[in-house]
Amino acid sequence: MTTTTEHSRTTELSQTVTNIDSIAGPDASYEKNRRADSPLENGLPLQQDVALLQAARQRLVLTQAYPVPLPKTDDELVVEIRAIGLNPVDWKSIDYNFAIPQLPYIAGRDFAGVVVQAPAASSRIRLGDLVLSPSTDYRDVRKSAFQEYAISTHQNVARIPRNIQTTQAASVGVAFVAAALALGISLGLKLPALSGQPELDLWETVRQVPVAAIPADIAAECLSSIDNAERPQPGDWIAIYGGSSTSALLISEIAKLAKLKVILLADSVKHGGRLSEREGSIIVDSHDPIRAINIVRSITKERLRFAVDTVGKETASYIIQALEADTKEGKRAHLVGLTGVPKETVEGIVSHSVPIKLFHEVPSIGLALMKWLERALETDAIALPEVEHATGGLDGINAALDKMRRGEISGRRLVVPV
Ligand SMILES: NC(=O)c1ccc[n+]([C@@H]2O[C@H](COP(=O)([O-])OP(=O)(O)OC[C@H]3O[C@@H](n4cnc5c(N)ncnc54)[C@H](OP(=O)(O)O)[C@@H]3O)[C@@H](O)[C@H]2O)c1
Repeated sequence: MTTTTEHSRTTELSQTVTNIDSIAGPDASYEKNRRADSPLENGLPLQQDVALLQAARQRLVLTQAYPVPLPKTDDELVVEIRAIGLNPVDWKSIDYNFAIPQLPYIAGRDFAGVVVQAPAASSRIRLGDLVLSPSTDYRDVRKSAFQEYAISTHQNVARIPRNIQTTQAASVGVAFVAAALALGISLGLKLPALSGQPELDLWETVRQVPVAAIPADIAAECLSSIDNAERPQPGDWIAIYGGSSTSALLISEIAKLAKLKVILLADSVKHGGRLSEREGSIIVDSHDPIRAINIVRSITKERLRFAVDTVGKETASYIIQALEADTKEGKRAHLVGLTGVPKETVEGIVSHSVPIKLFHEVPSIGLALMKWLERALETDAIALPEVEHATGGLDGINAALDKMRRGEISGRRLVVPV
């Protein structure tokens, strides 16, 4: 059963009283009743369907007649969502009750679709453009993915070229932003020039931003966590623990383009075949972590100065053992943890966390990243994640998240066409 609640355009999420819907299974038909029967205002319908979270650890509820979000600034645009890319945080935040700034809440971090209202500000984005949007600004539910229409800014969308499917595009956003900021800001790697796109030096770009414009909690990570002389150079090694993950794919693709030598630590039985098809990286089986670290030390001749962990604190504490500062040259080693780093400090080794909010808080950084990604997609410069399609539209998200909870989505992205 699906019930409908009327909302005026101005209704705040926190004020709405939403009736509980039944949760349909993955094969339930999902009635798209939006564009046809919802009245239009400035070309936008007033109402939409959303998958609403009423409380932590609960199922999402398909809720109809919810207000379509509106832009608040000239930089903002409206996207009619065609595909939603699912990230691990989408189920983890519900199950472990974090990153839910208000209830009821609309979650979802990655979407792709059509621009149905262009930004008022002058920009490269036009009405009708197909775009992808990594929604890192999770506190603003207008920008969340689990709805039919969402807000983004022209600095935070990438246009999808014809050679890329919309569902494929929805799989890339957040993983790309995390990869690019981990490499470009935390480790200071220059994102290489692409045909028609100059090199992107994020380390330098962020130093040109007024300090007051950088959020205080990430300022140290952005401005003082790696010295110019320590930054990676072509030929340097980088090791990535959790080599099967989507973010590891994007990190390794960018690193290889920048001529770093890449080692992926992953379960070879599960992922060896697929990973070895990708050229240019060495796969080390992570089944026995101590042995894996010894193999990495041997391959790199104990000269590994850069590593990223995409799994958790425990694996981060293993990979840190493979790192070596260059004491002769006075260069420290650097580890970025996507999901955490060990508390203990090790002399000569700097631990980093990804300053992800830089993407939406500092428009010049967001725009630079999206322009680089647009060109990378256009020129097929990077391999993209393998995609599995989930059925059921917004009503199928619960079942899709269940698949992720059960660990059935490994080495690929689950994408929900809407
Ligand atoms: N700090 C940030 O800003 C930021 C940004 C992006 C991502 N992240 C975090 O980085 C990590 C990797 O993200 P991602 O998007 O790259 O991941 P992903 O591609 O969705 O999956 C990573 C791997 O996790 C394992 N896995 C899948 N389901 C699981 C389950 N239910 N329980 C335990 N393991 C499971 C699988 O590897 P195996 O089959 O090999 O075990 C899978 O390949 C996540 O924890 C994510 O939240 C952080």
